[in-house]
Amino acid sequence: MGFPRIVVNAKLYAEATGPGARRLLDACATQPGTALAPPLTELANLARYGRSVPLFAQHVDGLAAGVGTGFVTAAMAKQAGAMGTLLNHAEHKLKPADLKASLASAQAAGLWTLLCADSLAETRKLAKFKPTAIAIEPPELIGGNVSVTSADPAIVADAVAAVRDMAPDTLVLCGAGVKTGRDVKAARKLGAHGVLLASGVVKARDPLAALRDLASGL
Ligand code: G3P
Repeated sequence: MGFPRIVVNAKLYAEATGPGARRLLDACATQPGTALAPPLTELANLARYGRSVPLFAQHVDGLAAGVGTGFVTAAMAKQAGAMGTLLNHAEHKLKPADLKASLASAQAAGLWTLLCADSLAETRKLAKFKPTAIAIEPPELIGGNVSVTSADPAIVADAVAAVRDMAPDTLVLCGAGVKTGRDVKAARKLGAHGVLLASGVVKARDPLAALRDLASGL
């Protein structure tokens, strides 16, 4: 299975728990190439529910099994059903040492690693780690209605170029404000492999219709 082109980060939205989580997974299942990063507490339930949608943990820590109250290991996330993990999201920034440890654990567990960068400078720093993918997401656009692809297309194109130079095997996604197929199309035109988004699907009145529209831009 190739790395997804649409990654839906369900954050801690209330719409993404219980039956809402299954509804989101059902919607993702209709669009091949779509992955879901549910709240961590929903991961195992959704994996059992099936639907062959790649699941991402929203975060993993760089700890081994043993002591570590309140943390989650990469191996445990994988065991719960994750195929990949987000790391360093703007809402869950990691100190460099913690990021390195989380990344190493995720890589050792065989998880796809999707690192979030809030700037071009951070994209360059993260490219050195050669993760599976980097998502460029300007924090000020997160949760808004203006897509990064319209508000700041240059940051997407520049991130793509920087990563191509530094880590040619690392894919680039873009996110923040992405809502429509037009935004996805623009992302692809700018050289991105795909998009990382949240509210455009999770908060949509009809997540399935939102995903259909997004996928039309691929
Ligand atoms: O991880 C995706 C996210 O930060 C973007 O959020 O709501 O702007 O799609 P949103």
